[in-house]
Amino acid sequence: MDVILKLVRNIITIDGPSGVGKGTLAFLLAEKLDWHILDSGLLYRLVGYLSLKEKLETTREIVQFLNKSKIQLVTNLKEGICEIKLNKKILGKELRNENIASRASELAKKEEIRNAIIKIQRNAYDSEKGLIADGRDMGTIIFPEAALKVFLLASPEVRAERRANQLKEKGMSVIMHDLLEQIQQRDEEDINRKISPLKPADDAIVIDTSSLSIKEVEKKVMENFKKL
Ligand code: DC
Repeated sequence: MDVILKLVRNIITIDGPSGVGKGTLAFLLAEKLDWHILDSGLLYRLVGYLSLKEKLETTREIVQFLNKSKIQLVTNLKEGICEIKLNKKILGKELRNENIASRASELAKKEEIRNAIIKIQRNAYDSEKGLIADGRDMGTIIFPEAALKVFLLASPEVRAERRANQLKEKGMSVIMHDLLEQIQQRDEEDINRKISPLKPADDAIVIDTSSLSIKEVEKKVMENFKKL
């Protein structure tokens, strides 16, 4: 029997591959609507960080650590920053590099890891205030009840260029060839994994952003939102 979901108007999901502009769009929409943001990728990056920097070697150790820790997502809309408060430690910049992202993508294949952070993601929604949820499986798995689901696309070359500009703005050095390779490898992993692969929900609006500015993408999403 098919389950009929009651659609919720104050959740917008944004899924898509890395570097496609999900985060930037999430901030623009959250500011416009005065809603919260869930940057789910940051939670997977935390998992990558635990594995690489805290030397938690097995999935079991990571899951146990996640279960006993206090994990909060902290968003500063004015400064355009999402960070994680892990127990008393704030993690932001440390999570935003390609080594952590690649490890996050590898570990994101594991069902136990995905299950350990489902609750944190679902808890980010408070029905009083809306939520913009960005990631890979926001529309398909975490918030299938969202009335507006957006899936962003752009070629790997365009995304590598955008990511390079973001990193340069933050004063980080970039090797374009390596960045493109890392993006393609992450696409491969995120699209082809068995559990919660990167794909548009059946009812998602798919937007190819390759030749659009972020403001044009925002306009398209808002037009769809107003039609709900
Ligand atoms: O969005 P991001 O680049 O910060 O995400 C880092 C990695 O985390 C991404 O390559 C795959 C994983 N991820 C995931 O599997 N599911 C999500 N909802 C978000 C991220």
